[in-house]
Amino acid sequence: MNTQALMDTARALVADDKGLLAMDESNPTCNKRFAKLGIPQTVKARRSYRELIVTTPALGECISGAILYDETIRQQKKDGTPFVKVITDAGIIPGIKVDTGAKDMAAHPGEKITEGLDGLRDRLKEYSQMGARFAKWRAVIAVGDGIPSRGCLEANAQALARYATLCQEAGLVPVVEPEVLMDGEHALERCREVTEEVLHTVFHQLYTQRVMLEGIILKPNMVLPGLTCPKQEAVDEVADATVKCLLRAVPAAVPGIAFLSGGQSGELASARLNAMNVRFKSRLPWQLAFSFARAIQQPALEIWKGKEANVLPAQQALVHRAKCNRAARRGEYSAAMERGVGTL
Ligand code: 13P
Repeated sequence: MNTQALMDTARALVADDKGLLAMDESNPTCNKRFAKLGIPQTVKARRSYRELIVTTPALGECISGAILYDETIRQQKKDGTPFVKVITDAGIIPGIKVDTGAKDMAAHPGEKITEGLDGLRDRLKEYSQMGARFAKWRAVIAVGDGIPSRGCLEANAQALARYATLCQEAGLVPVVEPEVLMDGEHALERCREVTEEVLHTVFHQLYTQRVMLEGIILKPNMVLPGLTCPKQEAVDEVADATVKCLLRAVPAAVPGIAFLSGGQSGELASARLNAMNVRFKSRLPWQLAFSFARAIQQPALEIWKGKEANVLPAQQALVHRAKCNRAARRGEYSAAMERGVGTL
């Protein structure tokens, strides 16, 4: 294991106020999002959309790494240039989603366990040869009556740790993603409690299984009230609860925390990340960054609608969200940026 190279890659992923672009939707997830907008659910359409993303001008000024999906890492631009080369030439580090999805957990109604460990060592070797320098694995934790259970937390944490050691062995930085879902009526305090327990469980497993913490990125949820909770806290309260929770559970050796967006709007995700950096940045041991999919891509996808003529405005919308999030890392994001005012 080349410890220094892993540490360098992990630091590079959260350097210069940039963040990650998650464009690793599995084919079923990507198809679902296309279907809602009347876009054909074909390999051709998915390839065109991914070409739109990776050829967005100036994306590398705000995006440090792009997480690809197995189909995408093997694809090329229309002119034959591999996406991995396009990304790398833009100064963006290629990454790859390696879990094979969250499946219903036996004897645990309403809970999921993420699969993908079988054959992972060989797949990581192949992805590394294709140019990937980091990887992602997502565990999904639902909040509800009597859940999450210890069984679900421990099984998912153990899988995350086994994935992370295999990644480091292969020279890839593991992005460790335990996502506490927003779905439900639960209050912010319940999300904080669950997130804290999840993170303690995950870091205990990472330690037990000899993961080098300086060579990972943590990708957690923000601490939020459930989507249908009647009380929706203000941005600053979310920022305070999230940072307080992370300070209790995430070792200082971890170089960076890159949040998932989880279904928040782009504006809210930027505003909350901004508030955390405004209020706490100078006092934190790790960088607070972003690794958004929907909160960066959604407006662009809605503009594109599968039509060649919409590529340029869609790319402008994509880079706008990326710029807003870079500003949020600096604590310089404001609602005015959404009206095209301010320094992008
Ligand atoms: P969202 O930002 O849309 O939650 O996606 C992040 C991600 O990579 C989920 O695994």
